[in-house]
This record gives sequence, structure tokens and C-alpha cells, in this order.
Amino acid sequence: MCLTGQYIHFQVHKCALSSNNSMVCFHCNSYCKLDSGWVRSVRPQKENLFLHVNDGSSLQSLQVVASSELNHRLLTFGSAVEISGSLVTSPSRKQEVELQADQIDVVGECNPVDFPFKIKKKHGLEYIRQFPHLRCRTNAFSSLLRIRSEATAAIQQYFKEKGFIQVHTPVLTSNDCEGAGELFQVEVSSKNQDEEGHQHFFSVPAYLTVSGQLHLEVMAGAFPGVYTFGPTFRAENSQSRRHLAEFYMVEAEISFTQSLEDLMKVMEDLFRSTTEHLLDQCPEDVALYHKHVITYTEAINILNSSSKKFAFKTDWGCDLQTEHEKYLVKHCGDFPLFVTDYPYALKPFYARDNQDQPLHTAAAVDLLVPGVGEMCGGSLREDRLDLLKTRLAQAGLDEAYGWYLDLRRFGSVPHGGFGMGFERYLQCVLGVDNIKDVIPFPRYSRSCLL
Ligand code: 4AD
Repeated sequence: MCLTGQYIHFQVHKCALSSNNSMVCFHCNSYCKLDSGWVRSVRPQKENLFLHVNDGSSLQSLQVVASSELNHRLLTFGSAVEISGSLVTSPSRKQEVELQADQIDVVGECNPVDFPFKIKKKHGLEYIRQFPHLRCRTNAFSSLLRIRSEATAAIQQYFKEKGFIQVHTPVLTSNDCEGAGELFQVEVSSKNQDEEGHQHFFSVPAYLTVSGQLHLEVMAGAFPGVYTFGPTFRAENSQSRRHLAEFYMVEAEISFTQSLEDLMKVMEDLFRSTTEHLLDQCPEDVALYHKHVITYTEAINILNSSSKKFAFKTDWGCDLQTEHEKYLVKHCGDFPLFVTDYPYALKPFYARDNQDQPLHTAAAVDLLVPGVGEMCGGSLREDRLDLLKTRLAQAGLDEAYGWYLDLRRFGSVPHGGFGMGFERYLQCVLGVDNIKDVIPFPRYSRSCLL
């Protein structure tokens, strides 16, 4: 077990100490050996040298006490150490236990002059973003990475408990699911081109996926619920605070579904259970939940009756921009907000036509959240073959999507699904302003560091 893990374990289980650098827990019988971590602070005093050492397993650091005679020149902020000693009850009230070190070996030095992070200084996220190779050593980013990992586990657990099948949808694909042309085309190296320089790896152009939805819809023809959770790519030329060229999306498809309410229930449940898990596992980080539902038409009315001047148009039929989404969330009490029934023309070919409504809308829903705007987008899928055929033909896509029409021909079921941007979810829960600060290696227009 790790060093801080052991410390926490000790606190929780009130383990007995032994004298030989180890401890045995009489509750769970685990046997732990003290070992290694990174120095977070160094305080030389008259008789003793006090260090705080952290191993990345939590925000907590273990206090290490060594003799002041120890040469501490190399024990600087950020250096990597291996320690042996005994875990004892601490005389101070600040911690229950501390490690009395017999020996401290510096296994990796860290020159404090060159190291971009300084002891006891709180660096802004924008500053630490400049060091993608070192930012995991800061409290803020190591905390984010633990939360990402917990949220990933919670999402998998949610779908497993609900009986969804996880499908590994492909990263390389020949479709542009969203039809927006925001595709990264995959080129083969010159070695794999023919004499005229043509690519011949796949006989059709291949792209990095913009969404696994269409592949999930294939599987929705055989399973009640399917999901995928993987990297997604969009060649959007945007420097905004909520767009990445590579992001992780959780997508689900639910068969035998005919109502947006059913979809919203899963979207809300997923959001709620993942957040509850985070609150439980990482209590210091999060707090929220409530919801509202309005239609797109109501949203437009709210925007048009506001005295606020928006940069983008708010006529019926215009897409909601981030400024509109953020305003709507604020207007509705700063809680998560569902917006339903968007204009048909704004939605991709697969969205179900709400034929019975006076204004031409699609059965589509977005979940907007505070500080971020759109976090999830979903729709019921058009399951009526004739309507789908017409729409694909109008878009000139009928030849390419013959296979998609087959899904409606053979044992089709009413279904719907949604996608949740994982980074936007983390932005929302953690209140992080810029999406680049919730992903280990951000890729965006004009930036592909490391
Ligand atoms: O609304 P979008 O484009 O929907 C789809 O891709 C559907 N095919 C999903 C489905 O129904 N299976 O994207 C879904 C979510 C958005 O709500 C947003 O959270 C996130 O993906 N997203 C992005 N996140 C970061 N950077 C970008 N460039 C993003 N584009 C979309």
C-alpha cells in the first residue's frame, strides 16, 4: 500500500504500530511497508527536520521527522524520496501519526530554481497549463486526475448496474455522424501510399470519429441498452473555453424507448449517480443538483424578453449559443436545465421529427449546466423508414447511409440516445472555467503539445 494510503488507512482503522518500518492492521490484516513519495515541504528546526511527503494517492501528506543532523541540502520541494523509519503516534494535534525517519534517500533531485512550481505558492490553472509534463505534480491537477479516474469508474458502474452493454465503437470510421464536416481525415505515411502518392489503406477516406452514435445504433438493434465511453475528435477551429479537438464522450443508446422523458431519466440518473459517487469518494470537491425542463420555443421567448443584448441572434430557428445557454441556466435559478424540441432544421438527419407540433421541431434534448452551457445532447432517433429515407435523400446522403436504412428495415425498434462530454461534466462539477484544465493533454486548434 502507498504511503499516504497507509496514513489514511491508519486513521480509519486505528492500526497498531510495530517497530520495524511496518504496521499490521488488526481489522483487515493488511501489512504495509513504508516507502516513497515527493517532498511537499521542508522545515529545518533546532533538533529536528520536518518534512511533508505526498505519494499522489490523496491530497494528504505524511509528516516525516528526521534528525536535524541529516544533510537536507537535496531535500527540496518536489524531490523524490524513499524513507525508512517507524510510524509513531504524533505528539502534535495536527496529525495522529508521523513517520520517524531512520534514513531518507533522495532518489530524484529537484532543483527549486528551475522547477516552475514554488513551495507554498498557489499557482493559477492558466499558469500550470503551460507545463503539461509537470502539472500532475501540483495539488490542483493531481486532484483533478483522481477525480477523473473516480468519475470514469462511476460511469462504468452506473451502466453496469443498469444492465447496459459496453461497446468499443471504432476510432477510425468512414462516417461523419454529425454531418458538420468537422472531421480529422486520417492519412497513411508515405510508405503506405501507391506510386502516385494515393492512399490505399482503406478503399474509402477514413476519419477519426466525431461520435460513436451510429455504431451504437447498430447494437441497439440487438440489445436493450448499449453505451460507449472513449475519445472523440472534432476539427472545430475554436479556442473557446469549452471546445477541445479531442475529448471523451459517454454515449448511450436505449432501445424500446419512445419518449424524451425516458431519455431524460437516464441522463439525469447518470449525472446524479456519478456526482453522488464523486461526493462520496472525493467529498472536498463537489456540490450541486436540481433540474428544470423548458422547450426550445420557451427558451427563445425567455431570451427575447430579456433586456440583455446578445451578440448572436435569438430568432426562432437560430441555434442556441453559449451566451444564450449560460443566460438560460442563470435565468432558471442556476441549476441544470433541459431544453427540448429544437427546430428540426438544426438537428442532424437521425433526429426524430415531432410531426404533431405546430412548429417544425425534432424530439431532441440538451442538458445545460451552470458555468458551461450544453453538457449533454440527445434525441429520439427517426425510426420511420419513409421519413428517414426522405431526409437522407434531401441531404444527398442516401447512398452512403443505405446500411443505416437497413437498421430500420430489419427488426427496428424505437430508440433514442445521448452523449455527455466528459470534460464538460468535470468542468461543471468542479467549477473549472477552462476545459483545457480538466484533461491531461489538451488538444485544440493550433496546439498539440507533447
Ligand atoms: O451534441 P453532440 O455533438 O452530439 C453528438 O455527438 C451525438 N451524436 C451524441 C449522441 O446522441 N450519441 O455532442 C455531445 C456532447 C455535447 O453535449 C458536449 O458535452 C460534448 O459532447 N462536446 C464537446 N466537448 C468538448 N469539445 C468539443 N469540441 C465538443 N463537442 C461536443
